[in-house]
Amino acid sequence: MSEYRRIATLKTASELRARLISPTGAAIIAPTGAQNSFAPLPSIPEQADPKGILGQAFIHDGRRIGNRFAILPMEGWDASEDGKPTDLTIRRWKRFGGSGSKLIWGTEAVAVRHDGRANPNQLILSDANLSSIADLRKVMVDEHRSSFGTTEDLVVGLQLTHSGRFARPNKKDRFEPFCALENPILDRRYNIQSSDHMASDADLDQLVVDFVAAAVLAQKAGFDFVDLKHCHGYLGHELLAARHRPGKYGGSLENRMRFLREIVSGIRANAPGLRMGVRLSIFDTIPHKPGADRVGVPDGDANPYDLAFGPIGPHGGIDLSETVSFLTACRDLGITWICTTAGSPYYTPHLQRPAQFPPSDGYLPPEDPCVGVARQVSATAKLKELLPELLFVGSGYSFLQDWLPQVGEAVVGAGMVDMIGLGRMILAYPDLPADFLSGKGLDRKRICRTFSDCTTAPRKGMISGCFPLDPFYKIMPEAEIVRSYRAGVGP
Ligand SMILES: Cc1cc2nc3c(=O)[nH]c(=O)nc-3n(C[C@H](O)[C@H](O)[C@H](O)COP(=O)(O)O)c2cc1C
Ligand code: SF4
Repeated sequence: MSEYRRIATLKTASELRARLISPTGAAIIAPTGAQNSFAPLPSIPEQADPKGILGQAFIHDGRRIGNRFAILPMEGWDASEDGKPTDLTIRRWKRFGGSGSKLIWGTEAVAVRHDGRANPNQLILSDANLSSIADLRKVMVDEHRSSFGTTEDLVVGLQLTHSGRFARPNKKDRFEPFCALENPILDRRYNIQSSDHMASDADLDQLVVDFVAAAVLAQKAGFDFVDLKHCHGYLGHELLAARHRPGKYGGSLENRMRFLREIVSGIRANAPGLRMGVRLSIFDTIPHKPGADRVGVPDGDANPYDLAFGPIGPHGGIDLSETVSFLTACRDLGITWICTTAGSPYYTPHLQRPAQFPPSDGYLPPEDPCVGVARQVSATAKLKELLPELLFVGSGYSFLQDWLPQVGEAVVGAGMVDMIGLGRMILAYPDLPADFLSGKGLDRKRICRTFSDCTTAPRKGMISGCFPLDPFYKIMPEAEIVRSYRAGVGP
């Protein structure tokens, strides 16, 4: 467990706000080159108002969205070997539908082809799986209708992915990488040589075709939009950092965005009317590893500009210049649905999912996890300020626990983000939005305490789920095994 005081013990909003202050000395470098300090967080109310901004509908891109909660993509490592949903997948999607959130961003990562799976139990969107994935969407939407009476103000997207260097399509413990750039740190860590597994330009040309084909199927299955995933170290995200890659997909930002541009033009031609979004790691840094006392430290002294998109420099400042250029180009391509996230769960989990307890392959937080939350909130706010016409869904709020609605109300109210994305919280407490918005209040026993068991379990080859808090998972044999990893002893 980390040394930082637990959120549940904070008594006042001002105590919380004092901890949500951005990293010491950090700045955001906007495209003008000017150093802007992090946007100060607005004051946080002691109680959030169920009749306030979080419950207000709004219209974006011709669609009405009924409130300000979004479900983030959350996979469960529980599809069948041929990439179809199982009963566990169906249960998770049903809970997404019944949550009360009016935007379901991506549902979970779905591979566009077999070799792009992050694990042998990831969904695949193929002709053979179309009807089962269409049925899965229907179950989720029906659940929403039966709980809330309408789906007119519900928007549902599907996240399309290729896992790139993190692909493990056939065996849970065997990487079959498809790399976009050379990364000596990750090569050493995973015992591979990127150059032996480098995707050629022709390979990427083919992958564009496969993304487009999957998007056509997503439209047939009834999804409102596809999320062309560019985050977490997977292929689309790694390409964005490929400054040293030769050829048409590397070098200039224009080249590094070619993959996205070509997918977009293929989708426009083959799935007219299908909306598109991008989930983007808006900043990143070099991989971290456990240092003294298991606290995370950078793994070497590589230059973040060689490996990371939106690099965090040595003094904690975030260079968002290319992030802004990327999102401006997205806007010009007609992509206005953006979900912000950061780093990667494999090599910078403290940036991506701030937690009190690290997952089994992680490290103790090198900073107060509140700083990790504040970093995502502030960087997203800067992007929203510069590109107000884009819809921004933010991530990383689960660490706020009991204070999530209060901070959500403050940041949405201040126009720093449009919607509050819920990741781990939704596994632990799927009906949090419904409970909050109905005025019933939160059930404290169900609030995600960031134990990271839902990450540790798949790292150890098991299904994911909220083993400590969801009664359905709590009684599974896996729950005991995962708990023993958290205690540091293993099974
Ligand atoms: C078990 C688990 C599964 C996840 N699956 C996905 C996924 O399929 N696609 C994705 O983009 N992010 C995925 N994420 C990341 C979350 O969407 C989210 O960014 C992260 O958990 C931080 O948000 P939170 O603080 O609300 O949890 C996953 C995270 C966890 C813990
Ligand atoms: S296992 Fe449950 S409590 Fe722990 S981080 Fe995941 S969702 Fe939260």
